[in-house]
Amino acid sequence: MAAASISSPSPTSSSALKHAFSDRVPIRSILCLPDGGASLSGQRVRVGGWVKTGRKQGSGSFAFLEVSDGTCPANLQVIVDASVADLGSLVQTGTCVQLEGTLKEPPEGTKQKIELRVEEVLHVGPVDPAKYPLPKTKLTLEFLRDVVHLRPKTNTISAIARIRNALAYATHTFFQNHGFLYIHTPIITTSDCEGAGEMFQVTTLISEADRLEKELVKNPPPSESEVEAARLVVKEKGEAVAQLKAAKASKTDITEAVAVLSKAKESFSKLEERFKQKPGIPQKDGKIDYGVDFFARQAFLTVSGQLQVETFACAVSSVYTFGPTFRAENSHTSRHLAEFWMVEPEIAFADLKDDMNCAEAYVKFLCKWLLDNCFDDMEFMAKNYDKGCVDRLRMVASTPFERVSYTEAVDILIEAVKGGKQFENKVEWGIDLASEHERFLTEVKYQKPVIVYNYPKGIKAFYMRLNDDNKTVAAMDVLVPKVGELIGGSQREERYENIRDRILEMGLPTDPYEWYLDLRRYGTVKHSGFGLGFERMILFATGMDNIRDVIPFPRYPGRADL
Ligand code: 4AD
Ligand code: MG
Repeated sequence: MAAASISSPSPTSSSALKHAFSDRVPIRSILCLPDGGASLSGQRVRVGGWVKTGRKQGSGSFAFLEVSDGTCPANLQVIVDASVADLGSLVQTGTCVQLEGTLKEPPEGTKQKIELRVEEVLHVGPVDPAKYPLPKTKLTLEFLRDVVHLRPKTNTISAIARIRNALAYATHTFFQNHGFLYIHTPIITTSDCEGAGEMFQVTTLISEADRLEKELVKNPPPSESEVEAARLVVKEKGEAVAQLKAAKASKTDITEAVAVLSKAKESFSKLEERFKQKPGIPQKDGKIDYGVDFFARQAFLTVSGQLQVETFACAVSSVYTFGPTFRAENSHTSRHLAEFWMVEPEIAFADLKDDMNCAEAYVKFLCKWLLDNCFDDMEFMAKNYDKGCVDRLRMVASTPFERVSYTEAVDILIEAVKGGKQFENKVEWGIDLASEHERFLTEVKYQKPVIVYNYPKGIKAFYMRLNDDNKTVAAMDVLVPKVGELIGGSQREERYENIRDRILEMGLPTDPYEWYLDLRRYGTVKHSGFGLGFERMILFATGMDNIRDVIPFPRYPGRADL
């Protein structure tokens, strides 16, 4: 995003460009000026960053460095004389440098509008080129996933980080502008929102069992005879107290004997407790005893904040949650992560049509935001990954989304099959649309985003509102080119009897959902919402192929680095 000083019409001074909380001028505030920084010629600045490429010139009398601090896709060209610093260490790719010097316009004919003539090298964080895992050569995205801690240093991952940041900012801006409250829903939950059983369990039973096992090895439990011996000591000491009392012994003698008895009892109970400790997960009635688990019940990582955010929608009307969600589905696709971020608005007094309108306006807003605020990074993506990505953003920002019912969508797919189109998955009314079907609708048939609504109730979650036909629910999915499903949402079932019946019909236990049913018992209201998969939005915007490359730390089956 543009710093305030960039849009300032007055001549920019280097002190105005300086970062508020660090000793340098961000490279973005130099190179992203409308004139590429030319107007700053003559200014003395201090910059910091990492060397992308470096080469000695003029028989080693000076060096050119391309320096990036990750604030924008462009590098600052830097010239250092051999009299200023040891050039050998400076030119290595990956070296960190903090430099002071004067900005100068380079000679005619070079592509840079400004370059830095270094007068002082303030810091060097050296790199051993023989060991550095990210050499200058182009590296594959697959390779970079193995060095997830270093990959932010690459042009691609840093561009995606800036795009991701911009989309998060745009998300808050959109919902705040429309009067939605940002609600933090729990990460740890005891209800399964989607009812699909794809949850990661949160438990301390396993680590406790491990700890106990180690402890029992180090300090073996007492034998039965040791416990028995301790019990006898208690009995003996108890009798001694009784005898002293019966003999009306002195108070001091009785007190002393009682103290001895208490000690014996304490050591007996300790022994008995340790004797009862069994290695392994605690069981009760042949099942795992969650009563002794951390939360005294089974708990999970959330698959969606929807159910909890509904409690606020039914009280403060327009809300959204935006946080990490977790799914233990064993999918190895380029569209699925085990940990991903979801944006979930929820609106009271809103039906499915309002929901679709909100989803469409939000996606359009995100596209326009990237065009207005992240154009340089989008150009980088277009040049290196997907030449159509900028045009796609423009198209989506300006074209009304197609809206078709599920039944119409299935008819279209059946027609396509008749016309010779081959799908791997059979098309018939009642199927869950597969990714190939979704992409056909959005990429081939309409060539723009499509909202499919009114799905068969059998393939959707229990909370979606039953339509009058008793066969479909008021659900909607937004499908976009490159990705397929970007958004899933629905009008919620607000009628108490209907939702209770749906829970039972789907074989779900009603107990964990009693609180959710309360929202229908007390002051129920028509309401709707949706969830946008944040990484899917980044895939769609950037044209990247794999979802593992658009989240800083991807988690998927077999991988959770760092
Ligand atoms: O369609 P889903 O499952 O909907 C829900 O979770 C609702 N509770 C949302 C709501 O109504 N508040 O997921 C929503 C979106 C999908 O459309 C998809 O974009 C994304 O989340 N998504 C995933 N993204 C990455 N990896 C996964 N494993 C995903 N599963 C869903
Ligand atoms: Mg879905």
